[in-house]
Amino acid sequence: MTEFLLKTDIDEIVTRLKPHAADIEGRTVLVTGGRGFLGRYFTEVFAALNTSVLETPVRVLLLDNMITAGNAGSMEVTHPGIEFIKHNVIEPFDWKTDLDYVIHAAGIASPYYYRAYPMETLEVAITGTRNMLELAERHDAHFTFFSSSEIYGDPDPKHVPMQESYRGNVSCQGPRACYDESKRVGETLCYIFHSTKGTHTNVIRPFNVYGPGMQETDYRVLPNFASRIKAGKPLKVYGTGSQTRTFCYITDAMVGFMKVALGGIAGEAYNIGNPQPEISMLDLVKTIETVLDGDLVYDVIEYPDSYPADEPMRRAPDIRKAQLQLEYNPEVPLEDGLKRFLNWSNNTYIGRQ
Ligand SMILES: NC(=O)c1ccc[n+]([C@@H]2O[C@H](COP(=O)([O-])OP(=O)(O)OC[C@H]3O[C@@H](n4cnc5c(N)ncnc54)[C@H](O)[C@@H]3O)[C@@H](O)[C@H]2O)c1
Repeated sequence: MTEFLLKTDIDEIVTRLKPHAADIEGRTVLVTGGRGFLGRYFTEVFAALNTSVLETPVRVLLLDNMITAGNAGSMEVTHPGIEFIKHNVIEPFDWKTDLDYVIHAAGIASPYYYRAYPMETLEVAITGTRNMLELAERHDAHFTFFSSSEIYGDPDPKHVPMQESYRGNVSCQGPRACYDESKRVGETLCYIFHSTKGTHTNVIRPFNVYGPGMQETDYRVLPNFASRIKAGKPLKVYGTGSQTRTFCYITDAMVGFMKVALGGIAGEAYNIGNPQPEISMLDLVKTIETVLDGDLVYDVIEYPDSYPADEPMRRAPDIRKAQLQLEYNPEVPLEDGLKRFLNWSNNTYIGRQ
């Protein structure tokens, strides 16, 4: 498959999703952002379900305008029953035959890119979400919106880990607002369609997903570190290095995403992430040293101009709602996930950062 992903990871996801296979037997699914990091996982997971689990295959439509899909996203899609259509979701999309699920994952997800493309970031989450909701409503399809943990902004420490009911602390101005605020409006659109038109909507708030397939040109923290490790250059830790995140390995994340898309309670939002450990960027470097069994050189530096200011100081999910309602339980410890990711990036990256 999948030089860009690990077959063992796809097999692990498919095994964990077998109990849900009946929900997509013979159905049609549309995935926006279908050539992005998560979209490529949806592609491979549906293809593997078709090959090894489903009696009647699922048909999959992938929409993407390729704005940030990069080289990995440009690879041709050759799986039977899975079709790529180049389309900008800020334009309406017409589909005449059956449609059962709409998974709206198009977005501009990396801080580096939403600083470069603020209007596109805003429009895909607002106009794009409205267009995809209207499509789902016309087909009576289940709609899943990829929001973000960023909707919580810079949280009050007494609300960390964040529950879905926490309303957040977000600025409507500044370089991050185009992402945070548009994801919040996207969630409001889901709420409106669910409450006034009865559309079956769900919202996913992912917390820092990582794994093979993240591109060096993605400029999120782990690809940045991995690229510099490959190049033998010092790691760059921005700010003070005391800002915390949790990291969710892609197999755990994909299982959670699919559980929401197939079985989420209508109208509900779910945090999907791995709550443990909440780790500072400096401790992340130390954990990578343990995984690689060697010392790393790193510099703690000012944020570069290309990176949006106002970075949230803490980020950690409370996932009890998804655990209770969807039996979502992450299984891959950070060290194990980092080992898989760093092995893969070491074989794949060219060290361009
Ligand atoms: N990966 C994470 O950790 C994470 C965390 C929080 C939220 N999310 C959200 O999940 C979704 C998927 O994330 P990802 O990591 O795959 O991001 P990604 O950047 O790798 O993929 C997003 C894809 O959407 C496409 N896209 C952007 N604007 C579009 C438009 N107007 N029309 C059609 N396609 C468009 C891009 O070309 C890209 O291929 C995004 O909405 C993101 O905001 C992801």
